Amino acid sequence: MKFFADTAVIDEIKELAETGLLDGVTTNPTLIHKSGGDFVETVTEITKIVQGPVSAEVVALDHDGMMREAEVLRKIADHVAIKVPLTPDGLKTCRKLRGDGTMVNVTLCFSANQALLAAKAGATFISPFVGRLDDVGQNGMDLISDIRLIYDNYDYDTQILAASIRSPVHMLEAAKIGADVATAPTKILMQMFNHPLTDNGIASFLKDWQATGQKIV
Ligand code: E4P
Repeated sequence: MKFFADTAVIDEIKELAETGLLDGVTTNPTLIHKSGGDFVETVTEITKIVQGPVSAEVVALDHDGMMREAEVLRKIADHVAIKVPLTPDGLKTCRKLRGDGTMVNVTLCFSANQALLAAKAGATFISPFVGRLDDVGQNGMDLISDIRLIYDNYDYDTQILAASIRSPVHMLEAAKIGADVATAPTKILMQMFNHPLTDNGIASFLKDWQATGQKIV
């Protein structure tokens, strides 16, 4: 499973990139607002740090407006994925951009039927929002399972990008179902490293190593 960082904070992205485990980045207008940076400058900087897909979202609601914004965003770098909402205009824009060879991330997906439409529009990524479904009392992971089943039935190559991830358990469940990608806040990605037995094991190995009085170098 590929890991994308769901953040527009440059220092966090640099730190995650240094682990060698980061495959891409997703941004949205809220994350850009939280980062405090200029949108185009921030995306440009991210594309220099991460060579995998970097999602940048259009804010226009009509196809022509989306295309005008996408023109600006896709000029930033070839690995920018244009994020469009799951609306008729969004999918029309998706189809057009894919025809030009541009990656497209169809966002704000909350049903399997919506995911089916996005695959038919040739989306590179579909972003089902797991946490936001959980928030309204639906099981977000059930949506990931349904989309996996449908995409496998028809061999769609649209990648399932599990989004709105709120915990390491979400990461685990998405991986078990077979999501192609999960995008998560930095905190969640770093929490995946944690296990108290790892910490205890390191502490006891170090104690015993010191007792040997030896050095490796
Ligand atoms: C995905 O691309 C979105 O940016 C993100 O995962 C939304 O997550 P949220 O529901 O925590 O805002």
